[in-house]
Amino acid sequence: MPPPDATGGHQAAARLHVDGGCRLPRPVAGGTVLYMAPDEVLLRPMTPGDIRAAVAMFAAVTAEDRWVGTEAGFDQDRRAAMLAESLANPASHRFLIAVTRGGEVIASAHAQLTPYGVAEIGMAIAADWRGRGLGGRLLDALLVEIRDLGAHKVTLQVWPHNLRAIRLYASRGFATEGRLVRHYRRRRTGELWDAVIMSLVLDHTSAACPYGEGFE
Ligand SMILES: CC(C)(COP(=O)(O)OP(=O)(O)OC[C@H]1O[C@@H](n2cnc3c(N)ncnc32)[C@H](O)[C@@H]1OP(=O)(O)O)[C@@H](O)C(=O)NCCC(=O)NCCS
Repeated sequence: MPPPDATGGHQAAARLHVDGGCRLPRPVAGGTVLYMAPDEVLLRPMTPGDIRAAVAMFAAVTAEDRWVGTEAGFDQDRRAAMLAESLANPASHRFLIAVTRGGEVIASAHAQLTPYGVAEIGMAIAADWRGRGLGGRLLDALLVEIRDLGAHKVTLQVWPHNLRAIRLYASRGFATEGRLVRHYRRRRTGELWDAVIMSLVLDHTSAACPYGEGFE
């Protein structure tokens, strides 16, 4: 459950729409309320009290064995400890979650600023909540955090078969930068999976490398 002081106006939020999409983000104290039929969810920064539920939600996504790089059976205690450490470093890490009125964590997203100024991101939505626009809202909110971090670029890796994710990132301006061929060995099957690199440049004004390309 989110702490009472983090729910803002969520409890009192009026129900305004009747279709199945993720509509009209509405800012409240501590986050943004999204309508997702038949109820509303709150998009807000993760707090230490959310870590266990967020890790459990992520574990369910890994159990599907097709969308994220982390495989089922990962060490949940270790991940929780790493999350706690990262949450304590807002200068380089940002975490967002989406929670139902009942307090269920249904989505999470994170950005980590590398020492060279690129934000690496990841996101995951619980299976029942996909394909309804939540990913777009989550990514938009994460991009606000990333600009606040001062990143000059955002990057991620995605499996080539993950068309929903690829379409989501492309819809926010991410470009495909390349493909890592037979790059990641799946621990459980031994298979080698390709990954697509997608990135969004935020700084278009800083000078580029002055040396051109190739040798003279
Ligand atoms: C990837 C993910 C974050 C996308 O969020 P989402 O809320 O499900 O996606 P959205 O509803 O915002 O839809 C994103 C795009 O995919 C399209 N889409 C929806 N369902 C789709 C499907 N089954 N196949 C292909 N495209 C689909 C949408 O139309 C939309 O494209 P558009 O903007 O051109 O219309 C979410 O599905 C998820 O968490 N998946 C499992 C974990 C994962 O893949 N994480 C990302 C790893 S890189």
